[in-house]
Amino acid sequence: MLAREARELNIGFFSRVVRGRPWVRMKTAVSLDGRTALTNGVSQWITGHAARTDGHAFRRRASAVLTGVGTVHDDDPRLDVRLVDTPRQPMRVVVDSRLETPPTAKLLAPPGAVLIYAAQPDAGREAVLRAAGAEIAFVPGAGGKVDLAAMLADLARRGVNELHVEAGHKLNGSLVREGPVDEFLVYMAPRLLGVGRELAAFGPLERLEDTLDLRWTSVERIGDDLRLIARPAGREDF
Ligand SMILES: NC(=O)c1ccc[n+]([C@@H]2O[C@H](COP(=O)([O-])OP(=O)(O)OC[C@H]3O[C@@H](n4cnc5c(N)ncnc54)[C@H](OP(=O)(O)O)[C@@H]3O)[C@@H](O)[C@H]2O)c1
Repeated sequence: MLAREARELNIGFFSRVVRGRPWVRMKTAVSLDGRTALTNGVSQWITGHAARTDGHAFRRRASAVLTGVGTVHDDDPRLDVRLVDTPRQPMRVVVDSRLETPPTAKLLAPPGAVLIYAAQPDAGREAVLRAAGAEIAFVPGAGGKVDLAAMLADLARRGVNELHVEAGHKLNGSLVREGPVDEFLVYMAPRLLGVGRELAAFGPLERLEDTLDLRWTSVERIGDDLRLIARPAGREDF
């Protein structure tokens, strides 16, 4: 009875134990035309305060919050939980092949653990980032980039149940292309950005049959914005 509902209550735990990887929730703030940033990288803030507060509640329920080094350079986010009360900070994780996270990056500031996944060793940069408080793990993949599947398996071994992704179009694109995104959490603002960065850079596709089809699991208004939650169609059970 109510097996699916019961599983929802601990969806990350079941994902980790059954699939050996966390439940991956990709959070984005987008305009009505689906842009996550202007072409010059500016994205703060596309959505309003209520949406950002709601986003922090989703960060809070995750074991780890993940971003890419591109976002660290462009936005210098703290990636912690601030806008809602929390008894603990999720681990902050950066995908950074060449260890180019600046040691002054705000996300390195305590409290909470910081883990950087890299692909190319560099003794000098490793020492600087370790001194700044980060742990570094190497998961080399194709093209000198981080192997995302190996990273997810490693996060599961570290006990991460829910992984909250807040990255830019490149890392989002790789995650969508490689298939581990279980849930899209999208805050949509009623504004148009015109030419800009997309939610996830993948494709171009030639046929509509090849698109990633989703189904809505929730549509709600949060302040002046919409909160849309969608999951890949046909993947209700794993
Ligand atoms: N609106 C939103 O919700 C939102 C959220 C976050 C960011 N943003 C915006 O996104 C923009 C930054 O986007 P971005 O695409 O440059 O940054 P990103 O997606 O956060 O990071 C991309 C970087 O990750 C590294 N990486 C390592 N392994 C990878 C792999 N397997 N696949 C893909 N990337 C891998 C690559 O750099 P290396 O090769 O050097 O490792 C790559 O350049 C900014 O304008 C920011 O404001 C918007």
